[in-house]
Amino acid sequence: MATIHAVGVGPGDPELLTRKAERVLRRADVILAPVSNPSEASVALGTIREFIDEDRQKIIIHQFPMTSDLTRLIPAWQEAAELIAGHAEAGREVAFITIGDPLFYSTFIYLLKILRERWPHLPVEIIPGISSINAAAAQAALPLVEAEEKMAVVPATAGIEQIAAALAHFETVVLLKVKPLYADILELLRQTGREGSTVFVERVGSPRQKILTDFAQISAHAPDYLSLLIVKKPLSP
Ligand SMILES: C[S@@+](CC[C@H](N)C(=O)[O-])C[C@H]1O[C@@H](n2cnc3c(N)ncnc32)[C@H](O)[C@@H]1O
Repeated sequence: MATIHAVGVGPGDPELLTRKAERVLRRADVILAPVSNPSEASVALGTIREFIDEDRQKIIIHQFPMTSDLTRLIPAWQEAAELIAGHAEAGREVAFITIGDPLFYSTFIYLLKILRERWPHLPVEIIPGISSINAAAAQAALPLVEAEEKMAVVPATAGIEQIAAALAHFETVVLLKVKPLYADILELLRQTGREGSTVFVERVGSPRQKILTDFAQISAHAPDYLSLLIVKKPLSP
């Protein structure tokens, strides 16, 4: 029986992997990489290419559809957990790679629940990764919170009311998964006077990284899935 490793590979820059992540990935027999669309490359796999040996290691690309439809998601989670557990039971070290951190809005959270329920004897090691939020703040040189300030992280898919509530109660609000609700979010930011205190970050850590601080440019941009907004409380006049 071997260990299952959940490896956070960070936001997309190979230099932002931890040394532990690199060591585990070099040693793994099997690497399972998630994709949401089979025609798109796995960002996590792209991040670790220089650390792996595709002749020796088995690379499995597993599709997790980008949907909230549990009748499609649960079979994809079950299938991935079965694959992982099968290799681990056969004595092969398996690494499930995930962008950012594995316990922060990651598919691995669902796999972990299934693994704990169905294969409680299999050891699982979780290697944290640098989340997109920390990488984005660093690239924008934007302090997230200081002193007694509080921060909320809201997946925009939670809805515009939840975002408005977070803006009312937290000094810093980070919005993930902004693409589907982008126009509504921008309207809310205008209404709440956040035009001058919003930073947009897309594909941080990759050659396609984009950081926008000008609200007109933020509004003119069409974001892709890997983008977020950091919204600070405006300075009082
Ligand atoms: C399912 S969550 C994954 C979060 C990830 N586990 C982490 O620790 O950053 C996906 C959302 O994270 C944000 N995200 C992930 N990677 C990003 C990147 N490289 N640049 C900007 N935002 C990113 C986007 O808001 C995206 O919609």
